[in-house]
Amino acid sequence: MVHIQRRERFNAAHRLYNPDWTDERNFEVFGPCANPHFHGHNFNLIVDVKGEIQKDTGFVMDLQVLRNLIREHVIVHLDHRNLNLDVPFLEGKMASTEVLAIEIWKILQPLIAKEGGQLHCIRLEETENNFVEYYGE
Ligand code: NI
Repeated sequence: MVHIQRRERFNAAHRLYNPDWTDERNFEVFGPCANPHFHGHNFNLIVDVKGEIQKDTGFVMDLQVLRNLIREHVIVHLDHRNLNLDVPFLEGKMASTEVLAIEIWKILQPLIAKEGGQLHCIRLEETENNFVEYYGE
């Protein structure tokens, strides 16, 4: 079993805000992340795919194919967008990095499987210090 990883980058705005709470409660829990005028991050998305080496190519999965899947199905929906307002697959959900990682998994897992790969991990880096990893469970 070998793992391959592809990094893609995007920038997006968001706000952490629970509409079921008062503004006071939101600022208490989320601090400046609840700022009504949003704030932005330069995200790194690292997609880890595992599998056996294919005899014909020597690849687990063609990284060019993986790159295109990530860009066409994920990055195009997120880059230069507002995660609270612009992204259909986040509608009605908290715009946290955790939730976003899970939604990215749901999109990519079947697409990667169709190409013969097995999605192992979605790693989403929100800042240099804050990361989320999701392994599908
Ligand atoms: Ni933030």
